[in-house]
Amino acid sequence: MVAAVAFDGVSKRFRVYRQRHHSLKEAFIRRRRGVYDEFWVLRGISFQVESGTTLGVIGPNGSGKSTMLKLIARILHPNAGRITVGGRVSALLELGTGFHPDYTGRENIYLNGALLGLRRDVIRARLDEIIDFAAIRPFIDNAVKTYSSGMTMRLGFAIAVNVDPEILLIDEVLAVGDAEFAQKCYARISQFRAEGKTIILVSHDLDAIRKFSDRAILIDQGDIRADGSPDEVTNRYLNDVRRRQEHPEELADLKTTARWGTHEAEITRIEMLGTDGRPRYAFDTGDPLEVVVSYRCRRPVNDPVFGISISRADGVYCYAANTRANGIRIPRVADAGTVTCSLPQLNLLEGSYFLSAAITDYERGTTFDHWDRRVEFTVRQKQYYAGGVVYMDDHWQVDGTTPVHSPR
Ligand SMILES: Nc1ncnc2c1ncn2[C@@H]1O[C@H](COP(=O)(O)OP(=O)(O)OP(=O)(O)O)[C@@H](O)[C@H]1O
Ligand SMILES: [Mg+2]
Repeated sequence: MVAAVAFDGVSKRFRVYRQRHHSLKEAFIRRRRGVYDEFWVLRGISFQVESGTTLGVIGPNGSGKSTMLKLIARILHPNAGRITVGGRVSALLELGTGFHPDYTGRENIYLNGALLGLRRDVIRARLDEIIDFAAIRPFIDNAVKTYSSGMTMRLGFAIAVNVDPEILLIDEVLAVGDAEFAQKCYARISQFRAEGKTIILVSHDLDAIRKFSDRAILIDQGDIRADGSPDEVTNRYLNDVRRRQEHPEELADLKTTARWGTHEAEITRIEMLGTDGRPRYAFDTGDPLEVVVSYRCRRPVNDPVFGISISRADGVYCYAANTRANGIRIPRVADAGTVTCSLPQLNLLEGSYFLSAAITDYERGTTFDHWDRRVEFTVRQKQYYAGGVVYMDDHWQVDGTTPVHSPR
């Protein structure tokens, strides 16, 4: 096998300086003395990507996927081990990496091309193709800082695929793009695969990983936890997530949840319950469920609104609902209680998701408590229903010939 990329015992460490400084002076002294925690993102990992194949990389937030791509792109350097890269790399990394915000889109194309070692006349010859692929011509002479995230991503992708790379790195491109552009990106990725280029694709979209990778790896807590067929590895990941929910003591402290609000009324617990009334964190598409939000008040609160929202692990905002939008007015709450939201059908497609809950005032100007991404859960599809984020209960009719019903 000819390896396009090889990691041999690669480790990467970050230093996190302690934050609890009481004064600026103290912060300065501490920093000089180097009071920091060392934190290993990758611990001696080894793998190879065969030339001409696509490797899918999955893993929880903060597991080191983006770090791995940055190491391959030589934006970061390893603290130990060896990385061998055999071919010209072009990378679409996290949003905005590689762009200078004050320069225009056009200037950034030249800048990026130069960084990839392309001559100016070569870039000029490709300019139109890049601008057309990104479909942002009216904005190409505006500063990149004025672009929306979707526009920035379009430009990044258009550059990455139009500079003739041998190895293409893609980090989570589709989270911010619209459906049409996502389609275009995937068509281009398929074309690259057909041309025998090597691709490393990082995504939380497990459907895309299965569809586009020849092989996948799962990274978690610094190690490669699974390496094999995309089906095996994505299933392993979904299982891991479920197990961690059932055994929260195993949850790594890496899990970042944010919480804010005045806490006059506060959320004490958020649970997802299956039809048997027991907590459940792994569902199949179409399953019924209940979300129970328990609260406690420090003082009586008038007119509160209870809400929940769901986002996918890659940040795609999927759903939000609240009592007020449901036509319910709660005149007053005091002490403690629960609010239940019933969902007769969880119409999300396969993936890893987060549930958030919040209590606000009626005008939604004051947040009493917002507990962001408190609960992680997974959805599986028993059989192939559809691709994307939501299941729409589609029905088909074919005219002009007699179709044969075939089981899925
Ligand atoms: N420059 C840095 N300095 C300090 N810590 C960092 C730096 N870059 C990343 N980290 C930390 O390293 C860990 C891995 O980050 P990384 O971005 O590689 O994760 P990821 O797997 O891409 O996550 P996500 O799914 O959220 O994109 C995180 O805990 C992150 O906070
Ligand atoms: Mg990342």
